Order: sequence, then C-alpha cells, then structure tokens
Amino acid sequence: MQKIIILDFGSQTTQLIGRRVRELDTFCEIVPYNKFPQGDDSVIGVILSGSPYSVHDPEAFKVDLSQFVGRIPVLGICYGAQFISYANGGKVEKADSREYGRANLQEFDARNPLFEGFVPNSQVWMSHGDTITAIPSDCKCIASTANVKYAAYASTKNPVWAVQFHPEVFHSVQGTQLLRNFVVNICGSKQDWSAASFVDTTVAELKAQVGNDRVILGLSGGVDSSVAAVLLNRAIGKNLTCIFVDHGMLRKNEFRDVMHDYECLGLNVIGVDASEKFFADLAGVTDPEQKRKIIGRDFVEVFNAEAQKIKDAKWLAQGTIYPDRIESLNITGKVIKSHHNVGGLPKEMHLSLCEPLKWLFKDEVRRVGRQLGMPEHLITRHPFPGPGLAVRILGDITPEKVRILQDADDIYIRGLREYKVKLSGEEARRVLAAGVPADMKDGEIEVSLYDQIWQAGTVLLSTVRSVGVMGDERTYEHPVALRAVTSTDAMTADWAHLPYDFMAKVSNEIINKVRGVNRVCYDISSKPPSTIEWE
Ligand code: XMP
Repeated sequence: MQKIIILDFGSQTTQLIGRRVRELDTFCEIVPYNKFPQGDDSVIGVILSGSPYSVHDPEAFKVDLSQFVGRIPVLGICYGAQFISYANGGKVEKADSREYGRANLQEFDARNPLFEGFVPNSQVWMSHGDTITAIPSDCKCIASTANVKYAAYASTKNPVWAVQFHPEVFHSVQGTQLLRNFVVNICGSKQDWSAASFVDTTVAELKAQVGNDRVILGLSGGVDSSVAAVLLNRAIGKNLTCIFVDHGMLRKNEFRDVMHDYECLGLNVIGVDASEKFFADLAGVTDPEQKRKIIGRDFVEVFNAEAQKIKDAKWLAQGTIYPDRIESLNITGKVIKSHHNVGGLPKEMHLSLCEPLKWLFKDEVRRVGRQLGMPEHLITRHPFPGPGLAVRILGDITPEKVRILQDADDIYIRGLREYKVKLSGEEARRVLAAGVPADMKDGEIEVSLYDQIWQAGTVLLSTVRSVGVMGDERTYEHPVALRAVTSTDAMTADWAHLPYDFMAKVSNEIINKVRGVNRVCYDISSKPPSTIEWE
C-alpha cells in the first residue's frame, strides 16, 4: 500500500499531520526524524514536521535530505521548512518578534500546484520563533503574509515545497486543501486507505495470522477493545473468547448494558463479577497510588484466572492503537515509548500478542467501528479510566459511596447526551473531523454536549462535608464535582464551557434525587497543571 512518511522532529502537532493525511484516505507512518525507511518503494512522499528547536541549536535534530530529495516529493512544515532552507544555503534567523497565531496569505502563486483551489487572503496559523530570511538559490518564494516574506517556497529543481505555517491545524482554514494538493495531486496518492479497505485487509490478515488458533481478548467497555473484538470476531468467530471483568466501580448499569451490547454483536464473552474481591481488598485504603496498585493487581489476577480456563489459547488480543506506539521525541531527544495499557500476560500460557488496531488513530477506530455496524453509543463513548470510579472517589471506597457517585454521574452523563447544541465554523469542523456523525445544514450542525467534548465524569468528594438545607431539614453531606474537558489526545485538556442552564438543571436534579449529596461544583482546571482525573 502507498504511504506518506512523516519525519518527526518533535513538534506537538506531528500526530495531527498524520491524522490529516489519513483523513485524505492515505496511509502514513510517523517515524523519528533519523529513521527514514530507505529502500521502501511504497513511500510516495515525505513530510518534515515542526520542532521545538531552532536550526541553530547545537542539539537540533538534523537529517540527511539526500535520502529522499529528488526521488520523491517533499513538504517541509515550519521547522521542516527552515531546515530545508538552512541545509541548502538559505538563511534562518531569530524573528524580531515570535510569529504566533493567525495570519493571511496576502500573496501566493495561484499556479503552483500546492495552492490549487486557494482563495485570496486564506487564513493560516503561524507558530515559530525563527524565520527564513533567505531561501536557497534554486528556490522561489510562492507565498507571503504581512509579516512573513517566505511563508512558503518551492524548489525549481526538485519536487520540494516548504511552508512556515501549520496546514495541519484547524486555524489554517485551507490547510486540508494544501495537504490534499501535496498528498493527492503532487505525490499521486490513490486514496485507497479507508475504513472499508482496512476492515477487508485486516480481516484477511487476521485469518492468515491466527488461523484456527484460539484468541483471548480483555474487554473494557471502551471503544478500542470493543472494535478490536468485533473485528476479530468477523475474522475468526467463535475462536475468539472475550473476558469482561466487573470490578464493581463501573458506571451505573454499565456492566449489564455493555454485556447486552456485546451479546447483540455476537461476541463470545465471559462476564466476571469480581466486585466483592475488589471492594474487600480496597477496604480502608485512601492513598490514590495504593488504590491503583490494588486494582491493577486484582485485575490481572482475575483476568488470568479466567484466561487459564481457556485451555488451548495461543493469542492475547489487545486494542492498542497507533498513538500508544508512536515513538515520540521529547525535547531532550530521548525516544519515549508509551506503554501498553495492560497488566501482565499470564506468562505460563505463552501467548503471542495480536493488535489489530495498531495502525489506527482514535477517530479511525471509530470509523472502523461504524463500518462494522457497531451501535453509535458504543463507538462514541468517552474514555474511562481502567480503575473506574475508584479514582473519582476521594478517600476510602465503599459500595455505598460508589452507589452515590453512580447515581450522580448517571444524571450528569444522561443530561450531556440529551442537551443539543448548534455549532458552526471552526467548532463545527473540529467536531466533524473527530468523526461525530452530524449533518451540516445551512452551515450549522446539531450535536449533543456529550459528543462535543472529549470526556466527562463526576467526582465524589467524600472526604469533605458541608451544611445544606432541604425542606426544613439541615443536611451535612458530601459535594460532587462535575468535570468535562475538551481535548484531542488527553495529553492536554481544557475545561469545557458548558451552558449555565444545563449546569443549573443537572445540579438541581442531582441534589434533589441523589441521597448523600447536597452540593454540586464544576471543575474549571485545565491540564496541565491539573490532570483530567482527580486521583
Ligand atoms: P489524566 O488524569 O492523567 O488522564 O489527565 C488522562 C486520560 O487517561 C485516562 N486514565 C486512565 N486510563 N487507566 C486507563 O485506562 C488508568 O489507570 C487511567 N488513569 C487515567 C483518563 O480518564 C484520561 O482520559
């Protein structure tokens, strides 16, 4: 299959470039800047990402451009553009003031294939401290903004283009058009990467990989493991056994509802209610790390005990997705590999690992789920932490506290699903690009608050009590904190600006209906410096 290679120089938006290329139905791989796959004939183009470094920093990441320049088309973005210039006799200097934010392409070469379909004054997003003050002698300037002369340039000798702005971010209004011009028109992508083609090829590959072996898969109720299960089920049917452990700290009725969904999807699933064990082992424990450790340990124990019963299993399948595996560079140049979100494998079973979603971004996992005919409420579920409500109850955990939190959370989440908002412009484009199914009508889409945000949850502040009054009675009970955040990857997050009338309604309903709660707060902290979960 054809692919675009994205060389990662450590920019925060590298993964976003990858997602944009995939949205053009083109496969791409993100690799560290110094790991261009030489000799791979399926590579049809290269994109050089941005970087936190200046090209003049002694520790800046540098690449030998001769590996690909002149052979396949190249697009440099931000640092990528500056590096191509710097490495070919151009000049890069500190900008008088940091060029950050919106700008407009006041002049551009409309005949250049990179700008096909561009309108005058197209808005682009700049974010750089250095700027190109001279381009290589065999290059020509193809776009300028009011402050940036070489906003874009191209080689006259080789298929090389460079832009100092970021076409991958939403604020670059025609950014997708620019990437399409590069990927499809210039590199010649056949646009054969789609959810349908992914399902067909992956099912065939899984059949070949696994054959008649038995496979075990741990289900969590989340999108990734559920889509992985349905995909495997399509490939190998009853040879797949899924295990779904209830640790007692799932959302209200979640175990029952999700088991029902799984059964409707035809999955061979064993539900294990291990809540008593978890509650017993957590009794009296208040330290957040201690709670996590106990839950992690118990989970592995329960899962393994169940897995051992499947005698001739050869494979353990996981819903690992691409962002879990991308070797991302941090500013010190060290390669960091995110760990997989699974405890220990039962070693004595000698299971091999099967990860059918390992090339997909989250939004692609959702598209594949739709392609497989999975119900929308399963596909659009918010992320939920492995330790569940245990990390949303401050202090020790009891079944009664879990019951209170489940009831409050259920009112909040149902409310978010029911409340519809109209969105237009950049907000609408952001939501649509995340794969939320909504029809654009008169430039507007209507979506639920739930679908508009990354994640929401309720926290029981059970170490706190405050006074209230209900009827003529004095109450002395716990507050809950509502949390809702917008994010693209959970690495950074902002608190969602929920409508006041929604908050008023939910607060009223929680205090009136949930015994044990007499106060509702809203968490207005962003990440960093806070985290999404409270513990
Ligand atoms: P934080 O709290 O670190 O959360 O900002 C980032 C994202 O990770 C989720 N999360 C977890 N997911 N096991 C998981 O599977 C965990 O132990 C865990 N802790 C946090 C959290 O819900 C958010 O989406």
